[in-house]
Amino acid sequence: MTASKTYPVPEAIKSSTHLNAATYAEMYTRSIEEPEAFWAQSATMLEWYKQPTKIKNTHFGKNEVSIKWFEDGQLNASYNCIDRHLANNAKKVAFHWEGDSPEDSLDVTYQEVHYEVCKLANALKEMGVAKGDRVAIYMPMVPEAAYAMLACARIGAVHSVIFGGFSPNAIADRINDSKAKVVITADEGRRAGRSIPLKANVDKALANDACPSITHVVVHKLTGGDVDWNEKHDVWWHDAVEDCSGQCEPEVMNAEDPLFILYTSGSTGTPKGVVHTTGGYLLYSAMTFKYAFDYQEDDIYWCTADVGWITGHSYMVYGPMVNAATQVFFEGVPTYPDVKRIAQVVEKYKVNSLYTAPTAIRALMAHGDKPAEGCDLSSLRILGTVGEPINPEAWDWYHRVIGESRCPIIDTWWQTETGGHMILPLPGATSLKPGSATRPFFGIQPALFDADGNELEGEAEGNLVIKDSWPAQARTVYGDHERFINTYFSAYEGVYFTGDGARRDEDDYFWITGRVDDVLNVSGHRLGTAEIESALVAHAKVAEAAVVGFPHDIKGQGIYVYVTPNEGVVADEALTKELKAWVRQELSPIATPDMIQWSDGLPKTRSGKIMRRILRKIAANEHDQLGDTSTLADPSVVDTLIAERLNK
Ligand code: PRX
Repeated sequence: MTASKTYPVPEAIKSSTHLNAATYAEMYTRSIEEPEAFWAQSATMLEWYKQPTKIKNTHFGKNEVSIKWFEDGQLNASYNCIDRHLANNAKKVAFHWEGDSPEDSLDVTYQEVHYEVCKLANALKEMGVAKGDRVAIYMPMVPEAAYAMLACARIGAVHSVIFGGFSPNAIADRINDSKAKVVITADEGRRAGRSIPLKANVDKALANDACPSITHVVVHKLTGGDVDWNEKHDVWWHDAVEDCSGQCEPEVMNAEDPLFILYTSGSTGTPKGVVHTTGGYLLYSAMTFKYAFDYQEDDIYWCTADVGWITGHSYMVYGPMVNAATQVFFEGVPTYPDVKRIAQVVEKYKVNSLYTAPTAIRALMAHGDKPAEGCDLSSLRILGTVGEPINPEAWDWYHRVIGESRCPIIDTWWQTETGGHMILPLPGATSLKPGSATRPFFGIQPALFDADGNELEGEAEGNLVIKDSWPAQARTVYGDHERFINTYFSAYEGVYFTGDGARRDEDDYFWITGRVDDVLNVSGHRLGTAEIESALVAHAKVAEAAVVGFPHDIKGQGIYVYVTPNEGVVADEALTKELKAWVRQELSPIATPDMIQWSDGLPKTRSGKIMRRILRKIAANEHDQLGDTSTLADPSVVDTLIAERLNK
C-alpha cells in the first residue's frame, strides 16, 4: 500500500477549536477507561428533569442483547431543542429556509419554532395521539418537517419519517409495520422545478383501507396544487392548529423511551424499523455535532441531507438544535437551477460549515471548477461528507474548489443504527488522509475481524465491528428484537457487526471499504437487493430476478439487474423500460435499475442458491476474475451472461 498524502490540522482551525490532538487523546482514553464518569459528565450538555445516576447498562450477547443508557434520567427532546434556548436565543434564527427555487426563502427563529411546534403538538393531542403512539411523517424539506418531528417528541409520540422519495407501497409497509395513528404530509413537494405528488402518494398508500391504523392525515398546504380529499381522515394542518394554544407543556420522558423509528434496508427481508431512544441519542447527536463541525455559537451550518434519512434526524434536527445552531434548511438539489447553487447558497448565508455527500460532490466535480466560479466562499471553515466512501479525486476537488484548500474535510462514517458519527476526523485534532474516515469518536471501539471471528491486530483489513455500546446505539428493531440480535450480534460473539468492511493503516486510521453484505449504496442511499428483487418479481412478466451493485462514476454504486422472464414473454427494449418504470412506482425512483440484463438462467449452486459473487463480477466487467465456479449447477449460464453483459 502506498503512503497517502497527509493534511495536517490547518493553522486557522487550531486557534479556535474545541479540541486539539492532545485533548482528543486524553478524552478518548478517559471515555474508554472510565465510560461511566465520562458519559455522566458529558450528559450535563443536556437539560434533564431528573439527572441520570445509572449511566451504562449494556449487554451484547449472541442470544441476548440489552442496551440502556441513562436509564433513570428524565428529559424531553423538544424541550432541549427549543425551550431551553428561549431565555437567551429566542430571536436567533433556527432555520434559514432556502426553497427549491432561489426566489423562495424564509427565516424562522427559535421563538417561532416553539410556537409552531406547540400548536401542532396540541393538535396531535386533540386527534388522540398520546405518549408512545406512532406518527408517520412524509414531508418535503420545509421547516414543517422539523416541526412535525419536534411536535411528536414534545408529546412523547414516536415519529417515523418516511423519505419523500418513497412510493405508495413503501409508505404503506412502513405505516403498517409501526401501526402509525397519524400521517403528516404536504399537498406536494418540489424538486428541481418539478412537483412531487406527496398527498396523492399517501392517498394511494391508504386506498382500500390498506393502512387501518391511520385515523388522521394532516396535510400541510405548500404549493396549493390540487389534491383529492377524504373527509373521513384528511385535515389541513392550518385548520388542525387554528384553535390550538401556542403553549404545550413537554411530556416528561424516560431516557430509554423511544424517540423515533427510522426504516432502513438490510441484506434480507423488508426494511427494518430501527428504534432510537431519547436520552442517549439526543446527547450523542448533540455532542458529535459540536465536535465534528467544531461548532461555535454564531456559526451558520448547512447540511444538504433530507430529513427522511438519519443524517437529517441527527444533523439537521436534534444535534444542531440542542446546540441552538442556526442552519440553512434547503428544499432543493445541488444542481438546480444550475451547478453553482451550492456555492451561491454558501455565499448568501455566509455558511461556515457545509455537510454533504460524495455523490453530490461527484456530480458537481463533473463540471470542473465552474460550480464555484465567481462565488465568495470565504466564510467556509469546515467541510463534511457522509454516506459512502469518498474517493480521493472527489476529496481533492471538494478540498480545492469548495474549501479553497483551506478547510478540513470531515469524512464521517456512521449508520442509521449508530445514531451518530462513529469514525471521523475532529477538526482541530486529526490530520487528514483523503479517503480515510480516520479515528473513532469518544467511547467508540472499532475493531476488525476475519471471517472466522478472529480479531485482527495492527495493519489489517477485515469486517468492521464495534466492541462496546455507545449512547446513540439503536436499541432494537421495532417489533422484532430477535431480528435485531440476528442482524447485528450473531456474526461475532459480544460485538456489534456493522456490515461494512474496513482497513486499518500504519497510523491506526480506518478506511471504510464498503458493505460486505447485500446492501447497496446508490448515491448515498441505502437499498437492499432483496427489496428491489421483490419489487421486480411482483411484475407479471418476471420469473426471477437478481440485483447487484456495480461501480458508477457519480452514484458510487449503480443497480444492475438480471431478470429471467416468464415462459413465452418477449424481453425487448419496451419491456426493459416498463420494468424500470415498475420499480420506480413500486418502491422508489432512487431504486430504478441502471441496467437490466435479460437471461434465461441465473448462475446457481446445485442446491439452487444464486451465486451473486459471479453476478457482481460480470456487472463490474471483471468477468476474468470469477473465481471458483466449480459448484455451479450449469456453468454454461455464465458464458451466456458474459457474452450478453451490458456494462462493457
Ligand atoms: O456502508 C456505510 C456507508 O453507509 C452505510 C450506512 O448507511 P445509512 O444507514 O443509510 O446511513 C447513511 C448516513 C450515515 C454504512 O454502513 N457509509 C456512511 N458513511 C460513510 C460510509 N461509507 C464510507 N465512508 C463514510 N463516511
